[in-house]
Amino acid sequence: MSFITLGIESSCDETGLALYQTGHGLLAHVLHTQVALHNEYGGVVPELASRDHVQRITPLLRQVLREADKSIGQIDGIAYTQGPGLGGALLVGASSANALAYALDIPSIGIHHLEGHLLSPLLADPAPQFPFVALLVSGGHTQLMCVDGIGQYLLLGETVDDAAGEAFDKSAKLLGLGYPGGAALAQTGLNQLVVAGGVGANQLLRSKLNTEMGKRGGTVFYPDLEFCTDNGAMIAFAGALRFAQQQGSKNYRFNVKPRWNLAQTTY
Ligand code: KG4
Ligand code: ZN
Repeated sequence: MSFITLGIESSCDETGLALYQTGHGLLAHVLHTQVALHNEYGGVVPELASRDHVQRITPLLRQVLREADKSIGQIDGIAYTQGPGLGGALLVGASSANALAYALDIPSIGIHHLEGHLLSPLLADPAPQFPFVALLVSGGHTQLMCVDGIGQYLLLGETVDDAAGEAFDKSAKLLGLGYPGGAALAQTGLNQLVVAGGVGANQLLRSKLNTEMGKRGGTVFYPDLEFCTDNGAMIAFAGALRFAQQQGSKNYRFNVKPRWNLAQTTY
């Protein structure tokens, strides 16, 4: 199988595109960050974010194809971030993905941004095996999920943080919640913890989690640093897994979901 998936991430202030080939792995990924654009405002300005995504997507598409040494006609399916995120920013990715998929007569699929994050450690080597527990620590959310397989996500605990430091403490507490020491979470297979999301890049958090999981006889898996924060590779990868399950369609109708609960996601 050598299905090539193009992934497009545009949910916030990063435009990320990637090509993932099933059976081969990640072919190339490119990223443009808008940090400098929003810096003077002290936060992301949604309208500026959308306008910048519009300008970046086509040059980034050319770049990712060049880096992968592929032509546009070799793309077999397109995955894009459908939510959660900024409505306008998501619409740029969704409309670009569907227009391109229509032009190429290939399927498209909308991906949950947090699913991209939580599956991203599977891109690393060594990769965890299903089932595992995933700690998602991104911009605004800290969630602990039980992951049985693609699309099988059970929310174990959640908090909304307003300070990064708070996230570390709450993550530690959530770990306690996920591992109450009772009969339930001693179940086989749940000794693997996957950490994903931007805050997962933090070395202090990583060393604390390694220590805690070490005490419990478990292993912690992390995405490569460049795949902790927003990127197109995680969307291409999640899309490739869903295309392999015959998901995706050629009807090219789309909507975006600025608010979207991962545990209730159905495709
Ligand atoms: O996952 P992400 O790129 O975007 C969302 O989906 O929200 O996460 C972004 C968050 C930001 O709050 C950023 O400050 C944080 O990840 N972050 C970090 C580190 N790198 C990025 N937090 C702590 N330590 C880091 N090294
Ligand atoms: Zn993210």
